[in-house]
Amino acid sequence: MRVIAVANQKGGVAKTTTAVTLAHDLARRGHSVILVDLDAQGNVSPCFGLPPSPGLYRLLLSLVPLEELLVEVRPSLWLLPSDSSTAKLKMILAAEPYRETVLARALALADADYVILDTGPSRDLLHDNAHHAADEVVCPVAVDHLALIGVAQEMETLKFVRDHGHAVEMAAILPTFWDKTTNESQINLEKLVQKFGDLVLPAVPRTTRLREAPALGRTLWEYLDPNHAAYRAYQRLTERILHGK
Ligand SMILES: Nc1ncnc2c1ncn2[C@@H]1O[C@H](COP(=O)(O)OP(=O)(O)O)[C@@H](O)[C@H]1O
Ligand SMILES: [Mg+2]
Repeated sequence: MRVIAVANQKGGVAKTTTAVTLAHDLARRGHSVILVDLDAQGNVSPCFGLPPSPGLYRLLLSLVPLEELLVEVRPSLWLLPSDSSTAKLKMILAAEPYRETVLARALALADADYVILDTGPSRDLLHDNAHHAADEVVCPVAVDHLALIGVAQEMETLKFVRDHGHAVEMAAILPTFWDKTTNESQINLEKLVQKFGDLVLPAVPRTTRLREAPALGRTLWEYLDPNHAAYRAYQRLTERILHGK
């Protein structure tokens, strides 16, 4: 089982979009996948046309076993949902011993090829838990002037977690909201490639199609044309995860 966190402390950089899209592609290709929503906004459920619900809260407080909380949202793809109870969860867990490894321990017995963690935008206890549970991180980054800062912060988090004894690696940096009509996109993409080299994947373009899909409870794979540049960019991400190149 490989656990992959989709993380960047900035909000609105396409973390949830990336987690949903990657998880569904791995499932479409025949792997069993658990998608975990770690954000109190509970944005993952609506992407599948479902209301948010307190799955994460119940799991991490050991109220209900994982198998009973998972919702099958597509063939081979199970969702552990979240909602506003996740905010309360952070306060309750703050008093626990070994509090940054609660998620890792809860997922240790999970039966899946991949676990994909969609994280929230703040550096908090659940963010620490995601990094302590993850083997690898995918960092989506909007190619604006804050792009480099977002990735640098994520790299610092990875170093911190490694220094505390948990092996976790950056698997891919995914530039998002690429806009061919602005110099800003190009300049910031070039800066990312200069600094992080092959870790940086081809950029996902800004497209209203990607905004429309979740509103209809559909994923990118069910809504975009396979020739669309965003479709191809997300295919490259899956291939990086599967084959490491
Ligand atoms: N490439 C894109 N082009 C246009 N809109 C996008 C793109 N990727 C994501 N979005 C939209 O941008 C918003 C923020 O994306 P989201 O994945 O929720 O980010 P995060 O989880 O980092 O806050 C959502 O409405 C989403 O549908
Ligand atoms: Mg999100």
